Amino acid sequence: MPSGTSQSHDSAPLHVSGRAQYCDDIALPANALHAAFGLSRVAHGRVTSLDLAAVMESPGVAAIALPADIPGENNYGGAVHDDPIFADGLVQYAGQPLFAVAATSMRAARRAAQRAKIVIEPLPAILDIRAALAAESFVLPSHTMRRGDPRARLREAPRRLTTTVVIGGQDHFYLEGHIAVAVPQEDGAMLVHSSTQHPTEVQNIVAHALKEPANRIVVQCRRMGGGFGGKESQAALIAAAAAVLARKSGRPVKLRLDRDADMLMTGKRHDFIADCEAGFDDDGRLLALSVMLASRCGYSADLSGPVNDRAMFHVDNAYFLENVEITSHRCKTHTVSNTAFRGFGGPQGMMVIEALLDDIARTLGRDPLDIRRINLYGLGERNVTHYGQIVKGNLLPGIVDKLEHSSDYRRRREAVSRWNAAHPIIKRGLALTPVKFGISFTSTLFNQAGALLQVYTDGTVLLNHGGTEMGQGLHVKVAQVVATELGLPLSAIRITATDTSKVPNTSATAASSGSDLNGKAAQAAAVTIRQRLVDLACDTYGVAPRDVRFADGQVQIGEERQPFAALARAAHEARVPLSATGFYRTPDINWNKQTQSGVPFYYFAYGAAVAEVAVDTLTGESQLLRVDILHDVGRSLNPAIDLGQIEGGFLQGVGWLTSEELYWDGAGELRTHAPSTYKIPTARDWPAAARVELLPAAPNAVDSIYRSKAVGEPPLMLALSVFHAIRDACAACGPRGCLPHLPSPATPETVLRLIDA
Ligand code: MTE
Ligand code: MOS
Repeated sequence: MPSGTSQSHDSAPLHVSGRAQYCDDIALPANALHAAFGLSRVAHGRVTSLDLAAVMESPGVAAIALPADIPGENNYGGAVHDDPIFADGLVQYAGQPLFAVAATSMRAARRAAQRAKIVIEPLPAILDIRAALAAESFVLPSHTMRRGDPRARLREAPRRLTTTVVIGGQDHFYLEGHIAVAVPQEDGAMLVHSSTQHPTEVQNIVAHALKEPANRIVVQCRRMGGGFGGKESQAALIAAAAAVLARKSGRPVKLRLDRDADMLMTGKRHDFIADCEAGFDDDGRLLALSVMLASRCGYSADLSGPVNDRAMFHVDNAYFLENVEITSHRCKTHTVSNTAFRGFGGPQGMMVIEALLDDIARTLGRDPLDIRRINLYGLGERNVTHYGQIVKGNLLPGIVDKLEHSSDYRRRREAVSRWNAAHPIIKRGLALTPVKFGISFTSTLFNQAGALLQVYTDGTVLLNHGGTEMGQGLHVKVAQVVATELGLPLSAIRITATDTSKVPNTSATAASSGSDLNGKAAQAAAVTIRQRLVDLACDTYGVAPRDVRFADGQVQIGEERQPFAALARAAHEARVPLSATGFYRTPDINWNKQTQSGVPFYYFAYGAAVAEVAVDTLTGESQLLRVDILHDVGRSLNPAIDLGQIEGGFLQGVGWLTSEELYWDGAGELRTHAPSTYKIPTARDWPAAARVELLPAAPNAVDSIYRSKAVGEPPLMLALSVFHAIRDACAACGPRGCLPHLPSPATPETVLRLIDA
């Protein structure tokens, strides 16, 4: 059976041989132009003069686009229309595009863009979360979630602590930066190749910018060289600017950002601060919690509403919060607009509770694992989240027990203590942290998908669905589903570019639900076609439907056996249609934003990790020595792909929490806009000892595609174990019971500062 077995990524040979076509590899027509943006270097101000004469005269320049050149709406914001394609008079972040220029080569375009004479009269800029809170500067209204009576319970609690958790942002650093190619067609139509997780949104934004109906805009994406959430909303800016220039010049336009422009111009993971007060008992059981959660959203709303909602939903991580109050402020700052990033606010919410439980353990002089364990959601009791959803099928108590034993946690805890007693300079730390992550878009409407399946008379199959491929292996998983339903070898199924003219009105490939949604939609299409073939076989051979079976590229019809291709040909001759659409909507979910009640998540994905680190107390450098991971993917669709997602997600989380630091200077300019100053993990950061395992025999309790579970985002949060292992090592530098207030990322400088303090 193709589904449930390890199959390599459908593009693996193309990836490793350099033959995979990304947007940048698409052959351009001879008259194509290349474009570049002109950016503001001021964080907040009024444009008093924009002199583009030298740009226009620069060699090779063919067209310039300004707000006045946009036939329709000057906006690329999806939910809230507060993102101008080109700033019109008011600039709100350093790096904001003011115009774009198209020339005969990329170099000519980039050189020309530099020649603009821009005068901006600065206005006071709000550059961080605290400043925004003080000024009550918000992109969206604040929200509070409350359960029980946290105020009273806090007052009565035998023990209390207050703390502030500081959580850094993150640049996506996809290997392929943002890019779009816009190719004018006849009659006002436009074909756009876009590196996007959300072709439908790009289609709509381009249509609105060009003032064309949606049916004249086609958006295609064969693959992205990584998206990680960064190409969910923000790809529309690049595509819209390319389309406007293509419309104005009447020529194809390619717009590819270089790394610096990409990092300056496009949104990042939200950094957060959380002021917390917790009440607990002498056993470390949480009794009450109050959290003020504030995030940097940048200058516009973008996806900050749902990102901050998800942060609020995940403040519990894996723990029962009986009396809790979470207030979320969505801060407006004069910095680039923050956006989706793997975990979508969940990781930041979870950081808060993990830091608190760690503090409680150290206050009580207990192993943090004990405190984490007694606060876990129960089985059948203590199992209702603070937003009212019952945690069904909770696997965490079992996963934590199993991992504690398989990782030899207790013995290693003692070994770490002995090591630290004997070694004054290199300190070791150990931590086990769990993950519980809600699967579904919290906005119910997005939980739908469509597919288009075409069977040809030679028995081969072409599959399209609304999901996009960004390296995560979505296409191979969905192809496996179709192969399974039609009893065909995987090689008979081909998936090509995602295309808004084949499957319309799709959701972003995001929230880890790509295979859940599109797998089910493709299955529905395959079942439709299979049923037609069964009906034909029954009519032709006078057998019952149960006597028709599809396997190994063959169809068994009663006593007859014939190749799938023969039946497909027979169907064509009998005028039976061989193409079908499939549709899926996630059942049983509903979330009412107004009343803050309902069931936002179809199910939860679980996992846990144990990390051991060594910290050099003279330099602050830390090294991940070993990691043990046990992660729940339900009944895996493709174990090889799932393991890859777990390893990659984990290491990306390690980067977020230990080395990737975004630094804005006092004027609001991002100084970390290239790999020279922004450090992502590499293969060398993978620990020498790593044991990564899928939780065996754990089919999803709800009816997901073949009882699998989503895997794209949850593993990122396994990296919380590494951060807390570093905290553990830092704690070993101080007296017993000291609370290491370690902000993230735990860079060497940050760790050293803490140790010195
Ligand atoms: N894996 C790779 N290789 N590249 C990516 O860009 N994006 C992540 C995750 N895994 C990403 C990835 C994010 S943010 C999400 S939401 C999911 O993949 C999206 O794909 P899925 O829903 O098919 O899992
Ligand atoms: Mo992923 S952050 O939901 O694109």
